[in-house]
Amino acid sequence: MLVPFVPSPPEVIREMLRCAKVKNDDILLDLGCGDGRIIKIAKEEFYVREAIGVEIDKRLCREAKNDNVEVICGDMVTLSSILIPKVSVLTLYLSTRANEILEDIILKYGKKGLRISSHDFTFEKLRPTKEIKVKAMGLLGWTEHMIYCYEL
Ligand SMILES: C[S@@+](CC[C@H](N)C(=O)[O-])C[C@H]1O[C@@H](n2cnc3c(N)ncnc32)[C@H](O)[C@@H]1O
Repeated sequence: MLVPFVPSPPEVIREMLRCAKVKNDDILLDLGCGDGRIIKIAKEEFYVREAIGVEIDKRLCREAKNDNVEVICGDMVTLSSILIPKVSVLTLYLSTRANEILEDIILKYGKKGLRISSHDFTFEKLRPTKEIKVKAMGLLGWTEHMIYCYEL
């Protein structure tokens, strides 16, 4: 496992999705989806065509599943090369190391025009098109969150 479960606050999620210009014909993938909160908001409030999550923790994976979203229980590193080519939006809330591992996979398999929204962690080779600061209540009280948006 690369990263522990730390949920993104809802207002950060909405800002991540706005930053990635999410709309109703998008297919969105959240790598490390936790309890599925990003894919659920993408489906329920942004009406994306499909919302897919990948989660390694079996308990969280079960919690993330519902009728509206597709959740795959497994390792994002092995599943990324199969899933990334299918999607138009990618969301992540991981770590510097995890983004480092995923960046070459994204560059190799991501479609041209893929929009990426990453909570708090940047990529080395990609340059963000937008950076947004959001103050939100999370597990540690009111804290500042950064959102980095990219487009291939
Ligand atoms: C920081 S949480 C983010 C959860 C959710 N995306 C959000 O923003 O609220 C990271 C999640 O990635 C999951 N994870 C860590 N390593 C993983 C891996 N190799 N494959 C799939 N999921 C993984 C963790 O179990 C955790 O739920």
